[in-house]
Amino acid sequence: MRDELLSPSGDDDERGDEERDELGLRPQTLDDFVGQEQLKAHLRVMMKAAAGREQPMGHMLFAGPPGLGKTTLAGIIANEMNATMHITSGPALEKGGDLAAILTKLEDGDVLFIDEIHRLARPVEEVLYPAMEDFQLDLVLGKGPAARTMRLPVAKFTLVGATTRTGLITGPLRDRFDYPARLDYYEPDELRSIVLRAAGILDVAVDDDGAGEIALRSRGTPRIANRLLRQVRDFADVERDGKVTQAVAQDGLEFFGVDNRGLDKATRAVLQALCGMFEGGPVGLKTLSISVSEPVETVEDVYEPYLIQQGFLMRTPKGRVATVAAWQHLGLAAPSSSPDKDVPPGLFD
Ligand SMILES: Nc1ncnc2c1ncn2[C@@H]1O[C@H](COP(=O)(O)OP(=O)(O)OP(=O)(O)O)[C@@H](O)[C@H]1O
Ligand SMILES: [Mg+2]
Repeated sequence: MRDELLSPSGDDDERGDEERDELGLRPQTLDDFVGQEQLKAHLRVMMKAAAGREQPMGHMLFAGPPGLGKTTLAGIIANEMNATMHITSGPALEKGGDLAAILTKLEDGDVLFIDEIHRLARPVEEVLYPAMEDFQLDLVLGKGPAARTMRLPVAKFTLVGATTRTGLITGPLRDRFDYPARLDYYEPDELRSIVLRAAGILDVAVDDDGAGEIALRSRGTPRIANRLLRQVRDFADVERDGKVTQAVAQDGLEFFGVDNRGLDKATRAVLQALCGMFEGGPVGLKTLSISVSEPVETVEDVYEPYLIQQGFLMRTPKGRVATVAAWQHLGLAAPSSSPDKDVPPGLFD
């Protein structure tokens, strides 16, 4: 079971370079958090209202693809509310008792962050419901006919749940959140600001166009933008004069296998399998995943959303289908019987 305080400067020695950099890059305040303007405006109002009433904020749910800032936002809420954040995750809580143990340790105003909340076991969810609704813990003592329940009060905490799979959250759980928010892919402009901000922190010399090039290939995702910046920095240091211009960014990203639409080797492999092995589909998700040796969840959560958003892939009742744009992007001729042929042009522009 993982239940720890968020300590940005904690046990750094055990972390890899990327993870350590990521901690340093994580915005600590809403002002530092780029983009998601409407969500930030809502959060500001809710935090101010809660502080004015000297009450904890309502429970929040952040849904969206990996790397868009869900964990970061949870940290910001705790930070701005001067609250202690406790971190755990759905799969880490095996039994109701695991969650009960955490809940009884909370103090008024604390933030409890549950990552991958769609993976909570049902008995754990049952413990969570009364805690969210009434700040109560229902303990079952004994077994069989002699069993009885005991109610214990829990501190008035704020639950922040994060999920990459909104569809997998049960209705009763979703309904208990005061504010369910969806995070979407970032615009190139916003990603450029994120790259420039990170470059400042990491002390990388990058100009506007260099940052813009990285932004365009970041798949709408801040975490990827930061990762590509580090790769381009390494390339610029070793192969060029250390300055990241647009040309250097282009060369560096090509060197690391990121193409002009931001697809990396692993993401392109999904498209290549779809077109090369299955003639553009339709093919089942499981078969497609096996053919690229990736877990089904990874293909579905990590690779597909961006491929769909870019108009390269479609989910159909019969399975996954490559669009004409996918064939074109791979430099292949789409078969005349492409399953995509009936799709009107312009739909995926
Ligand atoms: N809006 C933003 N502005 C600036 N940096 C951001 C923003 N969102 C995310 N980041 C950066 O991207 C990194 C990844 O964000 P975070 O870990 O919060 O994503 P996540 O949504 O929790 O992902 P996962 O689903 O994989 O847990 C952070 O370390 C942070 O540096
Ligand atoms: Mg996270």
